Amino acid sequence: MANNHLTGIGSESKELATWYFTFAAILFGAQLLFGLVAAIQYVMPGFLFEVLDFSVARMLHINALVVWMVFAMFGAVYWLLPDETGIETVGIKIGKLLFWVFAAAIVVVVLVYLFIQVGSADEMSIWFIHEGREYIEAPRWADLGIVVVALGFVANLFLTGMKGKQTGIVTVLMADMIAFAGLYLCGMFFTDNISMDQYWWWWVIHLWVEATWEVYVGALAAYGLITMLGAHRKVVEMWLWIEVTMLFGSGILGMGHHYFWIGTPEYWWEIGALFSALEPLPLVAMFIHVLYDWGKTQGEQDAQGLEVSVIRNKPAFTWFVLNAFGNFLGAGIWGFFHTLPQVNLYTHGTQFTSAHGHLAFFGAYATILIGMMYIAIQGTNGIKVMNHTRSSIWSVSLLTGGMMGMTVALTVAGYVQVLVSRAQMGATWAGYFDGQSGMWFAQAMDWRLLMGVVMFLGFALLAKDFLTTGKNPVHQR
Ligand code: HEM
Ligand code: HEM
Ligand SMILES: [Fe+2]
Repeated sequence: MANNHLTGIGSESKELATWYFTFAAILFGAQLLFGLVAAIQYVMPGFLFEVLDFSVARMLHINALVVWMVFAMFGAVYWLLPDETGIETVGIKIGKLLFWVFAAAIVVVVLVYLFIQVGSADEMSIWFIHEGREYIEAPRWADLGIVVVALGFVANLFLTGMKGKQTGIVTVLMADMIAFAGLYLCGMFFTDNISMDQYWWWWVIHLWVEATWEVYVGALAAYGLITMLGAHRKVVEMWLWIEVTMLFGSGILGMGHHYFWIGTPEYWWEIGALFSALEPLPLVAMFIHVLYDWGKTQGEQDAQGLEVSVIRNKPAFTWFVLNAFGNFLGAGIWGFFHTLPQVNLYTHGTQFTSAHGHLAFFGAYATILIGMMYIAIQGTNGIKVMNHTRSSIWSVSLLTGGMMGMTVALTVAGYVQVLVSRAQMGATWAGYFDGQSGMWFAQAMDWRLLMGVVMFLGFALLAKDFLTTGKNPVHQR
């Protein structure tokens, strides 16, 4: 990001957005590295034993995942807010201070994870080491800090949204971000009863990724289509409202698909089955939405006489289209596969879950957030129409191809577990191990590792593309 073209109204907010994006991109790289360590440990169990154990590498992998996405999400809001409201973000100085608080807290938490890998399970650990809740393991002191940062962020969004122009996108974001921040509280308190603990933990995990984050992505898609294609606001915002209604409708009760086997009452079987099966519908709508809007703009011209169907940012647009496909495949198809209790009885907690988790997080969120980073790079460098470079094409191909390959490998591994561990051996202790010692399972783990390396190469090229854009003439015309 050599030459900074951020001037005028909203430049402070956009600058803060680039900080958030930069930290997010670094954490994304760290996520992949820890994923690689965990993947090597599946193939060579002694690798880094007692230096960086599997439990810690895995924890860092998935916590870095959540944190980089939250950073990129905050960044994207700070980026689009001035464009939507027409004013500079209110409270931007505090926003900038909170960024540093957030980033410093994350660095300290990661260092503690790395240096204190084993210890006792007591109140002290919950306060200072980690909480032991998958995906949101941050210790309580950091939790409290995160709450302060989130409140500051939501306050900035609200004050700006109320003072400036009120578009549908900003209104949806305001409602959504309150829910997003509020739900975090459900993962902060501790109960002795593990069923109750899991019950509330899912309020964060499921209601984030299958309700609030999906609505958030709808808002980003709407913003992106307007920015990159000059799409009609009325059309995109109409779809956005439909999606909000449908996603909240199916997503909230769809949570029942996590309540099948954790000790919650049996009526969750029916509720979970019905509502979670409806969840893919809005995802399909979102997918059709992108293609439909684009089709409608062919041949039109915008106020500056630019063909509307000219894509103003090709790398970002590629990632946005992949988002529509990825959301549909990873969350919609791979999610639907195992969402009925009759199927989930066999697939629960196998590598199949991991296949879905990888493709859904990547397809629904990594894609569009990387797309937003490209939009920010275009703005920061003052590029009118941004084309693909060799690195941007290779990085998107390697990252996406690697993720698809990994998903197929994990699906095969899950199939072996379902067949051997569950169907043939009746979910016994011996069945658990037999399922994982078969040739197909072992080969799938090799393929996953290989695909992880492919993804890491893709990330390296992405980073190179980000860093060299301002100096690369191919990008502009
Ligand atoms: C972008 C949206 C989504 C993301 C990021 C996502 C991610 C995940 C992740 C990471 C897990 C594993 C959680 C764990 O560690 O236990 C999971 C589990 C699950 N997901 Fe999703 N998911 C999404 C959407 C969906 C949808 C739309 C459906 C259903 C149609 C679905 C069905 C399920 C089910 C049934 C499980 C439980 C698997 C088991 O029993 O082991 N997911 N999801
Ligand atoms: C270099 C690429 C990657 C490698 C080698 C890798 C490897 C791994 C490994 C070994 C695990 C632990 C699985 C287990 O406990 O059985 C894991 C879990 C997970 N990874 Fe990755 N990963 C990579 C990239 C990603 C990406 C890009 C995402 C999302 C955008 C992601 C999301 C997840 C999630 C959600 C889980 C938890 C899954 C569950 O518990 O069901 N990973 N990964
Ligand atoms: Fe869910």
